[in-house]
Amino acid sequence: MADAIFEEPRLAEIYDELDPDRSDLDAYSAMAGEFGAESVLDVGCGTGTLACLLAGRGLEVIAVDPAAACLEVARRKPGAGDVRWVHGDVTDLPPLQVAPRRCAVRPRPAERLRVHGAKRPPA
Ligand SMILES: C[S@@+](CC[C@H](N)C(=O)[O-])C[C@H]1O[C@@H](n2cnc3c(N)ncnc32)[C@H](O)[C@@H]1O
Repeated sequence: MADAIFEEPRLAEIYDELDPDRSDLDAYSAMAGEFGAESVLDVGCGTGTLACLLAGRGLEVIAVDPAAACLEVARRKPGAGDVRWVHGDVTDLPPLQVAPRRCAVRPRPAERLRVHGAKRPPA
């Protein structure tokens, strides 16, 4: 369940304006480079700034958030079409495995995420 403040459309619309300096994302971007990641799972992506940034650098990005209002803002950003957006809670995600040379974390192939609803697939 999303936090009320992130689910409120009027707040989601101004989230980026309230926090215009996103130099905090430099560290995460650098980590992706340091790890040689090709795929990134952005948990709690919010309005998608990091997800779009990394996708713009050619990484495969899956971005997850339970707040539909934030995802609506995220989907309108430049480069959003290159991100796989998942409306869901991190606890809904299937078990993850680390593939050290290719990505930071990724779902097992047999447990692919469903877009627009990260419900665990039937066993
Ligand atoms: C402070 S915002 C940060 C958003 C984004 N990462 C950024 O840097 O702009 C925290 C985000 O975590 C999301 N969140 C909270 N609980 C979550 C959960 N259980 N699973 C996934 N995302 C969650 C919220 O909906 C919100 O969008």
